[in-house]
Amino acid sequence: MKGIVLAGGNGSRLRPSTSAASKQLFPIYDKPMIYYPIAVLMLAGIREILVISAPESISPLQRVFGDGKRLGLDIGYREQKEPRGIAEALLIGERHIDGRPSALVLGDNLFHGPGFEEAVQEAARTVDGCVLFGHKVFDPCRYGVGGFDRSGRLISIEEKPERPDSDYAVTGLYFYGADAVEVAKEVRPSARGELEITDVNRAYLAQERARFVTLEDSVAWFDAGTEESLFESACYVHSVLKGQGERIACLEEIALRMGFIDAEACHRLGEEMKDSPYGRYVMEKARRSNGTR
Ligand code: TTP
Repeated sequence: MKGIVLAGGNGSRLRPSTSAASKQLFPIYDKPMIYYPIAVLMLAGIREILVISAPESISPLQRVFGDGKRLGLDIGYREQKEPRGIAEALLIGERHIDGRPSALVLGDNLFHGPGFEEAVQEAARTVDGCVLFGHKVFDPCRYGVGGFDRSGRLISIEEKPERPDSDYAVTGLYFYGADAVEVAKEVRPSARGELEITDVNRAYLAQERARFVTLEDSVAWFDAGTEESLFESACYVHSVLKGQGERIACLEEIALRMGFIDAEACHRLGEEMKDSPYGRYVMEKARRSNGTR
């Protein structure tokens, strides 16, 4: 399975902070925002990842991850010249996807909590059409919203509805079967000139091949695209660290746990950052895992 992180966009809701840098490079507490969606793909077991971003952001993002080998990953980069919609990621990623199933995650989305890892691994194993992840929200009018029949089956997806059919927002994580690029190619630009991911998902829904996985309330989901949610997500990451001693989306730790790298490699990565609490945490995780250092 192939992974794509879409990390471009305008970032207009975060002006002036985004005037010189992509929001996906902003820290959410202890690490750049893009770590969080990369962690989601890694937890699903995905190692071949394409990062898509605005032309001027590609080289700063490459400085963060390089080719990904150090984390046991294979990371490539492609430009999205203009933010022409989320579904364009599937077209830009056509060569990378190479006719395989894929997972697309938005560069400003953070997921964390019990059962999440199992849910994405299950989606990666079983996806045929598309698997969407829904989360209960207080203000569904701001999101793509799922509508359901009496048996709980997904029957509609409305983008920013005035009268929403449910409280379940479609989050920025989508798993697709091998035909995603073909489906995306059929989508026409919306009134605002964008290729909408909702239209791709609706095409799968029309074929009765869309599955909606409802994330438990205990799973945290943030899209860190506003000053409020950026701040709240940092507070959440901080509170999990203080309360449980766990660093969310620590890629070195995840790579070790998933068997993408060994304890020695993990320790080396931590050592390079040993002046930061994050680096020392990575070293500690490596030490504990092989019990020898
Ligand atoms: P949004 O938050 O919807 O858009 P944005 O990032 O441009 O921000 P704003 O609305 O404040 O102007 O995008 C969600 C994610 O998808 C975000 O990580 C950016 C990414 N994205 C792209 O990379 N290209 C696109 O064409 C779009 C629409 C979004």
